[in-house]
Amino acid sequence: MTDEQVLIPRHVAVIMDGNGRWAVERGLDREEGHRAGRHAARRFMRAAQARDIEAVSLYAFSTENWARPTPEVDALMELIETALLVELQELCRHGVRLKVSGRRWELPAPLQRALSNAEEATAANDDMILNLCVNYGGQVEITDAAKEIARLVAAGELQLDDIGPDMFGSYLYVPDLPPVDLLIRPGGDLRVSNFMLWQIAYAEFYPMTEYWPDFQPEHLDAAIAEYSRRQRRFGGLALDD
Ligand code: IPE
Ligand code: IPE
Ligand code: MG
Repeated sequence: MTDEQVLIPRHVAVIMDGNGRWAVERGLDREEGHRAGRHAARRFMRAAQARDIEAVSLYAFSTENWARPTPEVDALMELIETALLVELQELCRHGVRLKVSGRRWELPAPLQRALSNAEEATAANDDMILNLCVNYGGQVEITDAAKEIARLVAAGELQLDDIGPDMFGSYLYVPDLPPVDLLIRPGGDLRVSNFMLWQIAYAEFYPMTEYWPDFQPEHLDAAIAEYSRRQRRFGGLALDD
């Protein structure tokens, strides 16, 4: 492959990390970091769409983030709700369809309403998918799917032999997404923190030292350039082997 060839990943997932440290290093409240992170998400969405990426998954709140102090959790819930209301027109104008992954039924009622409203309002958009992961955990996503499949088997509606990877994947929160090609994690940590454990099976991991609020379109270009240089083998052999 020559340096000029750029492969655009179909599905890019982002662990939007580092908001708190970004704020603390500036003598600000962690909540200010989350607000700045929201604007980074907006920049990222625009950049992803301009580069013809089909689907984006953004990790906004994990099933483990409830362990944070209540004021921070409350601020995050309100911030996500406000962002959805403020950005809805923008999503529609740009043809972005919102999907939601996570145990949404455990979220505060106003946020649940904002999520459903944005999903309905963007249902006909087909330029790009935004899969917003709120109260999301890879482990509960898999066990929620396993429970539903077990229920169908117990009811005689499914046979054990019907269960396989493709079929299992169709019971995840948002089943019709392509697999994650590129997983970006700003903030310097080298772990997946319970994000899309099923979908990232063969994703290329791209860690960044910069904090999420500092994310710029150039970082996405650098990630795509690196992705283009990777040799994906999916367990097989390279074409020239
Ligand atoms: C990520 O930023 C946002 C959420 C987890 C909601 P953090 O708040 O985890 O920022 P750091 O990792 O403490 O810097
Ligand atoms: C992952 O970041 C969750 C989100 C970005 C929403 P965390 O800050 O929660 O991850 P850990 O605790 O450092 O693994
Ligand atoms: Mg963090």
